[in-house]
Amino acid sequence: MLDQLEKIKKQAQAELKKIKENSEIEKFRLKYLGRQGELTKVLRQLKDIAEEEKPKVGQLANDLKLIIAEELKNIADRLSDQGESDQVTKVDLTLPGQQILVGSLHPNTIIQNELEDIFRSLGFMVLEGPDVESDYYNFEGLNIPADHPAREMQDTFWLTDGHALKPHTSALQVRTMEKYGAPLRAIFPGRCFRYEATDASHETTFYQLEGLMIDKDISIANLIAVMKELLRAVFGRDVKVRQRPGFFPFVEPAFELDINCMICEGKGCSVCKQSGWVEILPCGLVHPKVLEYGGLDPQVWSGFAFGLGLTRLVMMKYGIDDIRLLQSGDLRFLKQF
Ligand code: DAH
Repeated sequence: MLDQLEKIKKQAQAELKKIKENSEIEKFRLKYLGRQGELTKVLRQLKDIAEEEKPKVGQLANDLKLIIAEELKNIADRLSDQGESDQVTKVDLTLPGQQILVGSLHPNTIIQNELEDIFRSLGFMVLEGPDVESDYYNFEGLNIPADHPAREMQDTFWLTDGHALKPHTSALQVRTMEKYGAPLRAIFPGRCFRYEATDASHETTFYQLEGLMIDKDISIANLIAVMKELLRAVFGRDVKVRQRPGFFPFVEPAFELDINCMICEGKGCSVCKQSGWVEILPCGLVHPKVLEYGGLDPQVWSGFAFGLGLTRLVMMKYGIDDIRLLQSGDLRFLKQF
């Protein structure tokens, strides 16, 4: 029996060394100390052995039980320490705090969101169009035929396949009429591209927000009412405006709606080209030919369109005196919004 105990001891000690996880501790305990455990079985036989051997065997078995129990406890402690120390290395309190990402919306996005809200409340859809657009939607369908001098108004980025980067958001007018028919109310904010020499008020990439309303008996009164609402909502106060005749082949009559320059309060600066006024809202009544291109009968339907200079409006609203800052990606600029 003593031999048996010695064997169990050696086997147990070898197995104890292999324990790496808490779940193995319990398995081990059951294997040796459980009701059917190896040591328990030996102890049960104690009553059958010779009286004089009992104390010695009993002592050894009990010692072994204690040794195993103690060793198991040590292993359990070691494993739990290890778990804790693993966690401690994950959270090093001496490191500088992890920076939570903070950011803000680009001023252009802020104003665009505001305008979308205003127009949605007036029943307008908000649409988006492609940046690469066909000659037809960019010009032809807007009553600007190939030989028309108005094409000179757009310094366009042409692609080799005859498409172009859209030079104005008006490009979506005919697409919208084709898709939604009449009556319709929609705005299309979007990026525009022109082959410009850049300066404080010109960029190769800028934003416009086009609006189109088609219904029966639309007049200039409707147009002006919506334009006034727009400017009041954006600036939160009455803004000095002036209206003058304009020329755009896709609207007739056409207007230029200028606002008093808010950078210089009308005194004249580089943004308003020293005039005190900023062209911000060209608009007019949709030309009958454009309605036809859009598949609508001009005898039945009429409408107004406007092409808000979104980037210019942003500059006025925030007093930004150089358009190039908007696309600069300069954090010193962007962090102010
Ligand atoms: N597309 C014109 C431009 O970029 C702006 C414009 C003028 C849009 C008159 C309109 C409009 O809808 O009615 O210069």
